[in-house]
Amino acid sequence: MSITIPMLTVFPQLDEEIITLTNKNGMTIKLSNYGATWLSCVIPIAGVAREMLLGCASLAEYKQQTAYLGATVGRYANRIANAMFNITGKQYMLTANQGKNQLHGGISGFDKRLWSIQNCSSEQVTFCLVSPDGEEGFPGKLTVAVTYQLTSDNSVSIQFMANTNKATPVNLTNHAYFNLDGDSAHSDEESRYCDARLQSLQIHADHYLLVDADGIPTGDLMPVMQHDMDLRQPKRLIDHFWESHARRQTSGYDHTYLLHKKQPIAATLTSADGTVAMDVITSLPALHVYSGNFLQGTPNRWGGAYQNFAGIALEAQFLPDSPNHPEWPQPSCFLHPHQTYQHEICYRFHSKT
Ligand code: GLA
Repeated sequence: MSITIPMLTVFPQLDEEIITLTNKNGMTIKLSNYGATWLSCVIPIAGVAREMLLGCASLAEYKQQTAYLGATVGRYANRIANAMFNITGKQYMLTANQGKNQLHGGISGFDKRLWSIQNCSSEQVTFCLVSPDGEEGFPGKLTVAVTYQLTSDNSVSIQFMANTNKATPVNLTNHAYFNLDGDSAHSDEESRYCDARLQSLQIHADHYLLVDADGIPTGDLMPVMQHDMDLRQPKRLIDHFWESHARRQTSGYDHTYLLHKKQPIAATLTSADGTVAMDVITSLPALHVYSGNFLQGTPNRWGGAYQNFAGIALEAQFLPDSPNHPEWPQPSCFLHPHQTYQHEICYRFHSKT
């Protein structure tokens, strides 16, 4: 990655903007600097434009919803138990925003911030943010850049960079929800047919993290065979859905898989109609799968609301609560001064028609 993080010394007055990137295949993505959010992803499939992402009708609705639709999530994605961690013996207390725990960076996480826009072209855009020392309880002033790039092979590459002036945990991800069969207008009666669990998912992972009903890891990395969480072969997500104790515990998939280090593709999602597949390729060590278990009531693109299970989020990240689990087999989630946080998540779409 060639971008450098611009030094933001002044805080310009920012406006909310929507940016459109296109490629030569007629693929179009839309992004906003509100939450550095991925709003839309339309690909022509057999000549018909198909929306791959869940989304809202207006930025005002993005601000109201609580499902993190398409947002950039940080400073620390997923949960930190008891909103607390230690660095070399010093305890840091974070803002708790889900019971006594912190979810997705706290009350005003990166998803709710207005980012500045840098280096915008027809194929890529960079959003930048400065998170002050102490924000939501985190130590260190963190300077962050997120670049979205639309490539000619129908990939959306998201590159994350960050620098800090004090040691701090950093875990940045994107929270897009996918329905590769098309996010389209349905009556309430029809909406039960757009269950995103009809899609198939394959994840190259032998272990997943066991969590309690609050989504807090118990500390155990379990073999995927335990509780029928094995996605090493493509599996229709809806199959045997409620038979798994792990899924009943969290009202569906809301689990993090530790990825194979040597496998270039982390996961592949395939539409129920078999016409579209999407590979997830990432430098991050784990992939959180959330089957949209609480999406009901989230405003959709047509003035209505989504039902539960309308989309699947595939969030590449460090394992949740990693600041409190240095024993897990993954790189450290702590960023130190003079280091650069540098990770990529790439969503590569294939049409099979
Ligand atoms: C967030 C998380 C998901 C899930 C939901 C539950 O969206 O990213 O994994 O836990 O909260 O509401």
